[in-house]
Amino acid sequence: MSTRRQFIAGTSALAGSFLLGSTPIRAFAAASATLRTRVIPASGETISVIGMGTSGSFEVPARSPQYQDLKEVLRRFFDGGGTLIDTAPTYGNAEDNLGSLLAELGLRERAFIATKLSGVTGRDEGLAQFNDTLKRLQTDKVELLQVHNLRDWKTQLALARELKEQGKVKYVGVTHFLESAQDELADVVQQTRPDFLQINYSVTQRGAEKRVFPLAKELGVAVLANRNFNDGALFDRVKGKSLPGWAKEAGITSWAQMFLKFALSEEAVTVVIPATGKPDRQSDNLKAGLGPLLTPTQKAELIALVG
Ligand SMILES: NC(=O)c1ccc[n+]([C@@H]2O[C@H](COP(=O)([O-])OP(=O)(O)OC[C@H]3O[C@@H](n4cnc5c(N)ncnc54)[C@H](OP(=O)(O)O)[C@@H]3O)[C@@H](O)[C@H]2O)c1
Repeated sequence: MSTRRQFIAGTSALAGSFLLGSTPIRAFAAASATLRTRVIPASGETISVIGMGTSGSFEVPARSPQYQDLKEVLRRFFDGGGTLIDTAPTYGNAEDNLGSLLAELGLRERAFIATKLSGVTGRDEGLAQFNDTLKRLQTDKVELLQVHNLRDWKTQLALARELKEQGKVKYVGVTHFLESAQDELADVVQQTRPDFLQINYSVTQRGAEKRVFPLAKELGVAVLANRNFNDGALFDRVKGKSLPGWAKEAGITSWAQMFLKFALSEEAVTVVIPATGKPDRQSDNLKAGLGPLLTPTQKAELIALVG
């Protein structure tokens, strides 16, 4: 375990301008003055806590009306101080759309792209997929390369590390999205100490609190929390329910913000990655990165209300 990682993990006051290469992004620095940031323990780099997913939301026909909406989704994301976008070569045409949208909008340099080695077996298949991913994303490197759902993880993680050595990948990680896979994910993280892990975490899916989050804190592994809305199902649970009376004092004006703040109130969580193809929902989600987090009492009340 690295002492530097432990030191950085415990330091929350490193917020400031985010550097890509050696170029400070002035517009981003201005926006991030308000959006909460956290530290990536492996490097000390700070990152905005609100990221975004692309599963489903970016799987739309190129140049369709939904594709045009995604331009505004991305504009609002970056204007609001977001940077991390999670995707995968197996999310239909999401990588193609993300690549062309970032190119059209001139936003590639401001994006922290997290993609995956997904559904492949063996080094050759993994490498071919990664090279294809770079073409689809219209880039020559990605910020984070994750082994998707632990598939063939020994070979694929070794490949991701090789690509990191070559400068084509900045960080490596492993992912899953099921409560039932959390022990296996924890075992792999314990054994391999990646820079990032990604796991599901929401008001009703809290399994990561048992082993995964304590381990991430102990080892200095950054965490992406996925499925913060249980793929949208959480909104059905609160249909017709008012927000708790204390929502206002936590700066919360919607259930989406409430669910995202719940996840962010767990200190091991570095970035949440809600997915939407709708600009107004993107603006809504970004607000969860502002103002106070939930207290332990508020978290418990929310679990009782929604769980
Ligand atoms: N194993 C893995 O690595 C793994 C597995 C699962 C997910 N992921 C990543 O995590 C991301 C998020 O997970 P997810 O897409 O499964 O589910 P999610 O973020 O929990 O939920 C997405 C759903 O919530 C809706 N939504 C988003 N913002 C909203 C808002 N403000 N108000 C009301 N509804 C809202 C979306 O609808 P609209 O689009 O209509 O707005 C969509 O139906 C994925 O996109 C993917 O990048 C990774």
